[in-house]
Amino acid sequence: MASQTKIAPSILSADFGRLAEEVKAVDEAGADWIHVDVMDGHFVPNLTIGPCVVDAVDHATKLPLDVHLMIENPMDYAAQFIEAGADYLTIHQEVVDDLPAAFAKIRALGAKPAVAINPATAIETVSPLISEAAMILVMSVNPGFGGQGFMEEALPKLSALAELRERYGSDCLLEVDGGIKPSNVARVIDAGADVIVAGSAIFGAESYRDTIAALRSPA
Ligand code: DX5
Ligand code: ZN
Repeated sequence: MASQTKIAPSILSADFGRLAEEVKAVDEAGADWIHVDVMDGHFVPNLTIGPCVVDAVDHATKLPLDVHLMIENPMDYAAQFIEAGADYLTIHQEVVDDLPAAFAKIRALGAKPAVAINPATAIETVSPLISEAAMILVMSVNPGFGGQGFMEEALPKLSALAELRERYGSDCLLEVDGGIKPSNVARVIDAGADVIVAGSAIFGAESYRDTIAALRSPA
């Protein structure tokens, strides 16, 4: 189990015209990781960025890059994203048939493998992998866009995965992504989340530092 909650700002809500500056700003404001949302217009109805932007982000910070692939054929691009600087590479359960083989390939390429599940996907699809995955990402919105409302269904999923992790003595991290703000973060932390992704709550705030602190240690 992680000792301290990690905060991973999602650059999807950053000012892309000043991306390196924005990454440096959240780094200096206390972020633990940088969360990078990659979308292909097929798995989700939005298009974002590719490996060359991940490479640029990697040059702007020494923080670990948490690369969330919301794309249909993630393993076709794993090597490129890891080469560009991904430390954690997250693939979606819904589009990968052989997750253990994909994890092995990601590890062999030098990154930590993580798997994400959509709000409609049951935890049983990934729970057998609790000892193999470096991280499981529970989506608390339907992936595709920043700024959506938090879906409560994520809470029992996080609790059940936290219990399972305890039972198997696994050190798999639990990450939650979508609609997290200082006002609801305590509930996901209580449910067992170790890594909190937040886009609009951080980049839409006046003070990145105060918001990151509030997300890490809710009042
Ligand atoms: C949603 C992305 C999220 C998103 C989070 O598809 O995976 O990482 O940027 O944004 P907020 O925190 O605004 O919901
Ligand atoms: Zn994400």
